[in-house]
Amino acid sequence: MQIMNVGILGAGAMGAGIAQVAASAGHDVILCDKNKNALTKASEKLQKILNRLVVKERIDDPTAKAIFGRIHFIENMTAFENCNLIIEAIIEDLNIKKSVFQALEQIVADDCIIASNTSSLSITAIASACDHPSRVLGIHFFNPAALMKLVEIIPAVQTDQKIVLQSRELIENWGKLTVLAKDTPGFIVNRVARPFYGEALRIAEEQIADYATIDWAMTELGGFRMGPFTLMDYIGNDVNYKVTCSVWEAFYYDPRYKPSFLQKEKVDAKFLGRKSGKGYYDYSADNINPEPNRDEDLGHQILERIVVMLINEAADAVYLKIATPEDVDLAMTKGVNYPKGLLAWANLIGIGECVELLDELHDYYKEDRYRCSPLLRDMEAAEKMFF
Ligand SMILES: NC(=O)c1ccc[n+]([C@@H]2O[C@H](COP(=O)([O-])OP(=O)(O)OC[C@H]3O[C@@H](n4cnc5c(N)ncnc54)[C@H](O)[C@@H]3O)[C@@H](O)[C@H]2O)c1
Repeated sequence: MQIMNVGILGAGAMGAGIAQVAASAGHDVILCDKNKNALTKASEKLQKILNRLVVKERIDDPTAKAIFGRIHFIENMTAFENCNLIIEAIIEDLNIKKSVFQALEQIVADDCIIASNTSSLSITAIASACDHPSRVLGIHFFNPAALMKLVEIIPAVQTDQKIVLQSRELIENWGKLTVLAKDTPGFIVNRVARPFYGEALRIAEEQIADYATIDWAMTELGGFRMGPFTLMDYIGNDVNYKVTCSVWEAFYYDPRYKPSFLQKEKVDAKFLGRKSGKGYYDYSADNINPEPNRDEDLGHQILERIVVMLINEAADAVYLKIATPEDVDLAMTKGVNYPKGLLAWANLIGIGECVELLDELHDYYKEDRYRCSPLLRDMEAAEKMFF
């Protein structure tokens, strides 16, 4: 089957971005939203983005006009009738997504692929609402969809392997890098990245260091583009806290993913980050935020603790067959711009050293949160490395 017509449901931040990607790859796109205002906003935003690309000489004017001309902004889902692929990007609510998938099946042909861009919901649960669940899968773009290279492909338990291969090939033809992830909470990126926030919050909560010093350690010493507190302020503490809570709940309250009171406090106080003018930092024009203390020993301790917790999460994802080691490293470098793949980083630190650092934390706190992945322990015993 040739995929020519792509339908995108939800014209918000993600839907509009995915529409741009698909139209740039030459598809006719129907961008549908039940809210007229969202369609107007998406149209204005896309026009602005394409104009900017012309000014920057990334594309010429006729190309920009052709891309925009291929996107049709429509309020009624019945327009999806002739689409071969639908990507749903509406509100993150399982019951609403299930009923929308049921409604979609009444409109599209039997061989139309139906995908969800959900960040945290079970694809298997969404597919279960369908008469033909074998055509359902997760196609998870990152924000902003047009710029971020990575796309996670998530088969549901019911998905036909042919649909997985076909979708993966298509998304790669759109210029993206795909990784295959098992349908488990947070897939790869949103699962493996939890300690970047969680362990930083824990270090701040214990007053081992302040936000500025932790951010300094992760950026200056670790090479991360943004420190955890700057990043949480950027994402929005409400959004980040919600993802943490949903991953924690989905893992049956595994202490490894336990949310932080410090973050809850920020959310309760409406200190949401940049968008509210205040989060961990103060964004008012005349404010000067505190300087990091730049103690190199402390900085390296902070970096080591957060990185080893990230490595543990990445190793466990491999251990539990969520993804291959190659895909885990690709996901973290291309999905969230980590300076190195976490498993490649484990090789550099040394697997034995990683185990020792985790065991030290576990011995000190006596908390399950710090349990070392059996994969790291087995690899240490066998003197193995990743890759
Ligand atoms: N924002 C991100 O960083 C990000 C990243 C990856 C994945 N996601 C996922 O993508 C999806 C969309 O997220 P977003 O940030 O674009 O949301 P958003 O709030 O910006 O947009 C959602 C849009 O869907 C529309 N909508 C809601 N219900 C609808 C329905 N029944 N029919 C038609 N339109 C409907 C709304 O009017 C809105 O315009 C969510 O599942 C989210 O988890 C978000």
